[in-house]
Amino acid sequence: MKAVIMAGGSGTRLYPVTIAVNKHFLPIYNKPMIYYPLSLVMLLKIREVLFIVNPQDLENFQKLFGDGSHLGMSISYQIQEKPRGLAKGLILAEEFLNGDTVCYMLGDNVFFGHNLIKIMAEAKTEIENNGGAYVFGYYVKDPERFGIVEFDEEGNVKSIEEKPKNPKSNFAVVGIYFYDSKAVEIAKGVEPSNRGELEITSVNEEYLKEGKLKVKLLGRGFAWFDAGTHDSFLEAGEFVATIEKKTGLMIGCIEEIAYRNGWISREELIKLAKPLAKTNYGKYLLEIAKEG
Ligand code: DAU
Repeated sequence: MKAVIMAGGSGTRLYPVTIAVNKHFLPIYNKPMIYYPLSLVMLLKIREVLFIVNPQDLENFQKLFGDGSHLGMSISYQIQEKPRGLAKGLILAEEFLNGDTVCYMLGDNVFFGHNLIKIMAEAKTEIENNGGAYVFGYYVKDPERFGIVEFDEEGNVKSIEEKPKNPKSNFAVVGIYFYDSKAVEIAKGVEPSNRGELEITSVNEEYLKEGKLKVKLLGRGFAWFDAGTHDSFLEAGEFVATIEKKTGLMIGCIEEIAYRNGWISREELIKLAKPLAKTNYGKYLLEIAKEG
C-alpha cells in the first residue's frame, strides 16, 4: 500500500492566518501540522508517500521533506493547480499509485489514542487482502462540519453525506481512508457537489452502493482533531502539549518513528537531531539515540 496526503487547499477557514502561509506548515505545538498525518502513515509502515500540494507551496514542502531518503522513505509531490476537492487528489495520484491500494490522508487531521495503530493496521490489511473501502466514524457535537455516516438498527451503514444541513447522526467520517485500486476510477466518475468540489464522500458513497464500504467507529478513548479552524487548531496544539509534557513522549515525531521502524540508523538519527539541538525536539531525538 502507498499513501497520499492531501496538503493543498485554500485554508480559508483559518484566514487571516493562512493568507500568506499554507496551514500545513503551522505549528501544532512544537512541529508543523503536516508531521502528524505523515507520522501516522509511517506508523502504518508505509514508506512511499505522495503529497498533493498547491503550486506556490511545493518549494517549502521540498525544504521540509526533500525526497524522504533522510527518513528512509520515498516522498514525492504532485501539484494541484486549484483546490477542486478531495476526490480530485485520487485522480492526480493515479500515476503514483500505479494500481496499488492507498491510504488516503488529510493533511490537517491529528489522531491520538490507545491501539489506534493496531486498528488502522487492521483496516490496511483488510483492504490489501479483500479490497473495498474502509473509513472511520467519530462522535462529534458539530456534525454539520463533516462527512456524516448514518447507521440502521443493526449497525449497518445506511447513508453517508457531506456536511449535511440536517445531519442524520453525530458520526463524522475522519480524514484517513483506505481504498483498493478502484478508487481512482470511482473518483473520475464523481460530479462536483453544490459547493463545486469533487467530494471524497461521493467516492465513499459509491463504495457503499456496491456494498464495499466498511466503517469502524473510534470510541471515546481516541482524540481526533480536524485542525482546519481557529478553535480546533488551538485545541489540537493544547492537546499535544498536554500529553507530551505529561508523558515525556512525543506525538508525531517523524525522525523517532523512522528510527524505531528501523528505516534509519542511530548515526543518521543523531545527524538529523544535531541542527535541532537547541530545541526540546532535538534534545528528545538525541535522548532516543542514547537509548541505543
Ligand atoms: O476532516 C474530516 C473531513 O474532511 C471529512 O469529515 C469530510 O467528509 C471531508 O470532506 C473533509 O472536509 P473538510 O471540509 O474539513 O476538508 P478540507 O477542505 O479542510 O480539506 C481537508 C484537507 O485536504 C486539508 O488539509 C486541505 C486539503 N485539500 C483540500 C481540498 C478541498 C487539498 O489538498 N486539496 C483540495 O482540493
